[in-house]
Amino acid sequence: MLKSPYTRYDQLYIYNFDRVDLEKIDDPDLIGTWIEDDTTILFFHKEKQALVDTICAQTEAKILYQARLDYQDWEAGLDITTFTVPPLTVAPLWEAEQLIVDEESIPIRLDPSVIFGSGFHPTTRLCLQVITDLLTSHPAEIRTMMDMGTGTGLLSISAAKLGVKEVRAYDNNPFACSVAAKNMGLNDCQGQIQVLEADLRKALPETGVDLVVANLYKGLLLDLFQNQDFWKAKYYIISGFIPSMEEELLAALPMDQLKLLERRKSECWRLWLLANSNFQ
Ligand SMILES: C[S@@+](CC[C@H](N)C(=O)[O-])C[C@H]1O[C@@H](n2cnc3c(N)ncnc32)[C@H](O)[C@@H]1O
Repeated sequence: MLKSPYTRYDQLYIYNFDRVDLEKIDDPDLIGTWIEDDTTILFFHKEKQALVDTICAQTEAKILYQARLDYQDWEAGLDITTFTVPPLTVAPLWEAEQLIVDEESIPIRLDPSVIFGSGFHPTTRLCLQVITDLLTSHPAEIRTMMDMGTGTGLLSISAAKLGVKEVRAYDNNPFACSVAAKNMGLNDCQGQIQVLEADLRKALPETGVDLVVANLYKGLLLDLFQNQDFWKAKYYIISGFIPSMEEELLAALPMDQLKLLERRKSECWRLWLLANSNFQ
C-alpha cells in the first residue's frame, strides 16, 4: 500500500521466502506482505538485500526467488491511469488529487497496490461494466451483494457507490483484504462494505444476497458451482475464464435453476450474467 512519503509505485523489489512464520516487518519502504502457498512474498519500493540477509540469518528462512520489476511490468505492461466506466471514474491515488469530474460522474479513488483489481484487466473491466449496467437498470432490485475474491475492492466500492446498501467482500489473501479496507476508507464506504478474510474453497459464506460477483479462476468456479449453497442469490456475475473453459463450466451450472442473461467478452476473457429462476 502507499504510505508517506511514497505517492506512487515505480520500482518493485520482491522477495519470496520459503515460510509463512516471519515476524511482522516494520520498514518504511515495505509495500506489503503477501502469503501464498506456504511462502511469504515481501514487496518493497527499494532494494532490501541487507534486511533479507538478516531475516534469513535470524530465522533460517530461505529465499525462493527475488526480482526487481517496473510497476508497469507487474501490471502486465499497462500504465495504471484514470479510466471511466460511466457513471464511474476511477483514479489511482497519484492522479486522484487532480481529478475533475462532471456532475453525473461518480469518482472512485484507488490504491491498486500490487493486488489484482486495478481495473485494467479485461475481467475486472467486464465486471465493472455489467455491475454498472445492472445497477442502473435494476436499482431497486439489488440491495445486497457478495464480492467473491475482492482483490483491491474496486467492484465492491463501485457497487456501493451505485446504491448497493450492504456488500460483503471476501478474499483469502490478507494483503488484498488490507488494500481493500484502505480503499473502502478512501471512498467513505466502510459503512456499506465489510471486508472479510476467508478461503471460499474451505467454507462458503451465506449466499442469500441479490448479487454475487465472482471473478475467480476455473478450478474455484467449478467447486463453487457444484455446491448447492452457492445458488441462493438472485443474480450472478461470473468471470475469470477463457473460451476453452466455457464448455466445462457451463456443464457444471444447474441450468434448471438459472437463466443465462448475457455473455460478454473482452480480448480472450469471458463473463456471464446469470439470473436465478427461483426469483423470477
Ligand atoms: C481474479 S482476482 C479478482 C479481483 C477483483 N474482484 C477484480 O475483479 O478485479 C481473484 C481474487 O480472488 C482471490 N481468491 C483466490 N482464491 C480465493 C479463495 N479460495 N478464497 C477467497 N478468495 C480467493 C484472490 O486473492 C484475488 O484477489
